Amino acid sequence: MSRNSIYEARLLWALIVGTIAGYIITEILSYRAERPMEQPSLAEQLKKEVRVLCWVMTHPGNHKLRALHVKRTWGKRCNILLFMSSQLDDELPTVKLNLTEGRNYLWMKTKSAFKYVYNNYYNDSDWFFKADDDTFAVIENMRYMLYRYNSETPVYFGCKFKKYFKQGFMSGGAGYILSREALRRFVVEGLSNPKICKSGPDGSEDLMIGLCMQNLNVTAGDSRDANGNGRMYPLYPSFHLHPPDNKTFWYWNYAFYNTTDCFSCVANTAISFHYVKPNEMYEYDYFIYTLRAYGLTHNQELKLPTKLAAGEYKPEGTETAKSTSEALLNQTS
Ligand SMILES: *[C@@H]1O[C@H](CO)[C@@H](O)[C@H](O)[C@H]1NC(C)=O
Ligand SMILES: *[C@@H]1O[C@H](CO)[C@@H](O)[C@H](O)[C@H]1NC(C)=O
Ligand SMILES: *[C@@H]1O[C@H](CO)[C@@H](O)[C@H](O)[C@H]1NC(C)=O
Ligand SMILES: *[C@@H]1O[C@H](CO)[C@@H](O)[C@H](O)[C@H]1NC(C)=O
Ligand SMILES: *[C@@H]1O[C@H](CO)[C@@H](O)[C@H](O)[C@H]1NC(C)=O
Repeated sequence: MSRNSIYEARLLWALIVGTIAGYIITEILSYRAERPMEQPSLAEQLKKEVRVLCWVMTHPGNHKLRALHVKRTWGKRCNILLFMSSQLDDELPTVKLNLTEGRNYLWMKTKSAFKYVYNNYYNDSDWFFKADDDTFAVIENMRYMLYRYNSETPVYFGCKFKKYFKQGFMSGGAGYILSREALRRFVVEGLSNPKICKSGPDGSEDLMIGLCMQNLNVTAGDSRDANGNGRMYPLYPSFHLHPPDNKTFWYWNYAFYNTTDCFSCVANTAISFHYVKPNEMYEYDYFIYTLRAYGLTHNQELKLPTKLAAGEYKPEGTETAKSTSEALLNQTS
């Protein structure tokens, strides 16, 4: 090789290396410019640590009327969102369960839905939330409540009613959340044993699953906050914020914990409400996630509790919170 061609080869190499280095530096700089040095929010961290699968009970007549609006509002914040119906709908999309629709068959639908969820998603989530298509849920607050529990603990949460069974049962409309172990017991031990879970298609789904959970030794959890304020509600917000004086309405007779409900007794980390109309879902979404009163700061720094071990069940308020939200940020970053 002549000196000239060695020189040319070096020049070519320098050009290639320089171009690649320049490209990489530009990429790094533009990445930084797009994404300033920002910690992911605590809610984003919790989304990875407390995985929630939501399944929404719906039917063909409600796909466009209600379910779609769940998807566009609170539903999109679940780690996994499924709509259980008897017909396919590619827009939602839905899971097509092989069953007869109707109020009297909701128990069968609930069993089929949880079975489908177990067979397909058992290993992909920690908690399994059943909601109606007129339930509104604040998934960030649900993760905050569930954070302290180990999902291998046999427990389920919801709005607890005191009727019919020793440990009560959870309102269907407020939705209820099964731990991974509760789901496993329900599908593997319960569904195959008519002495534990009622066989056949008919029955009130919330009552029937309540009995089934009790027979499976799955604890009916307390979803109230550390101050004893409710977080999961079977009616719409205005009822619980400002209830009628007359306490003859069925709800007062069903509520598990003595509650009066009032503007300051609904928790500021509320999780779910019921009988929410589609247009109201957008209102709630706006009020919770978009609207801010100018100049005020929000209480993102609520302390995260110490995690309990698998099998441990201690409702909130039974001990003081120790670790802080910074501990979580350090631990997972
Ligand atoms: C649907 O359920 C019916 C009645 O239980 C059964 O006869 C039929 O085989 C099922 N179809 C499918 C596709 O599983
Ligand atoms: C979950 O994962 C475990 C371990 O990989 C596997 O043995 C089990 O079959 C899975 N369970 C389901 C229901 O998919
Ligand atoms: C539930 O607990 C009781 C009392 O410890 C026990 O006798 C029963 O076998 C348990 N049931 C199931 C389904 O684990
Ligand atoms: C309370 O309300 C119920 C139904 O809303 C009504 O039937 C009842 O008469 C009321 N009782 C009183 C004391 O106002
Ligand atoms: C609720 O209140 C009633 C009447 O005041 C009382 O007898 C009962 O023990 C209370 N229940 C709880 C769980 O605090």
